[in-house]
Amino acid sequence: MRILLHRADGKTEPWIKDFARYLPEAEVVVWEKGVPAPPCDYAVVFVPPEEMLPDLQNVKGIFLTGSGADGILRFGDAIPLHIPVVRLTDAGMGAQMAEYVVHAVLRYYRRFHEYEELARAGEWAPLLPPVREDFAVGVMGTGVLGSRVLEALKPFGFPLRAWSRTARAIDGVQCFHGADGLDTFLRGTRVAVCMLPLTEETNNILNLTNMAKMPQGSFIVNVGRGGHVSEPDLLNLMRTGHIEAATLDVFRHEPLPAQHPFWKEPRITITPHISALTLRRESVQQIAGKMRQMAQGEPVADVIDRSIGY
Ligand code: GLV
Repeated sequence: MRILLHRADGKTEPWIKDFARYLPEAEVVVWEKGVPAPPCDYAVVFVPPEEMLPDLQNVKGIFLTGSGADGILRFGDAIPLHIPVVRLTDAGMGAQMAEYVVHAVLRYYRRFHEYEELARAGEWAPLLPPVREDFAVGVMGTGVLGSRVLEALKPFGFPLRAWSRTARAIDGVQCFHGADGLDTFLRGTRVAVCMLPLTEETNNILNLTNMAKMPQGSFIVNVGRGGHVSEPDLLNLMRTGHIEAATLDVFRHEPLPAQHPFWKEPRITITPHISALTLRRESVQQIAGKMRQMAQGEPVADVIDRSIGY
């Protein structure tokens, strides 16, 4: 078995070592720009460069080292439709997402974002938290990671809501779906946590019209993709106070450019796409298992449905 590996950061050695450990029968070839790759059975990539496309035409499967598939699906059918594209299933991301989102929600609920400003101004000012029943947390996207985040939020007693493309039922969570459900979902959601895949349907979903439906003084937490949020609309709604604060982990252009107005907005918390980092060992172990299944003709979990884009 031969695997073609691409890492944007060029740090391939630890990946090769982990593949040697979890899939010793495989030979790993590192993809290099301008060097045609030998025939490979599988490819391991996340956001492959366009120059890699010729080397992806004849593999039997493409395994992503991340959860979101938009980085490869942007090539459309230049990635032949018969080649299964497989994303990671959790692989340690669920726990990280839960930590990140719970932290952001509690920070806003207990008003730490305000205490940070008050402390900088040397002010001692106790603030009452909002009424818990009015502090509904709504998770957009109910896949493996969204469901894990909802579970992690349960002990805190906030009203929990979820919105997804198709109908879902989750114990203890008020579920909404589809374009019709989005309106009602947003009207009752005080903290919108975006965990959606980026598709044509979800691009710009947090735009002026939609965010304006949320109650006055709402919060945005975006751990999906930068494309989900209209950046000028968010800034406008923050200037009017309609959106009180936002925690953003993902951006349309990453790294976020130095001149971007988000850096200057004190109520926007910026993190550098770290809400759920790919844990290499867990990921290689999972990918190795799925490659073995695929090689034996067995079904593999989390193959992207190219017709819906995730
Ligand atoms: C990270 O953004 C991922 O999709 O895994």
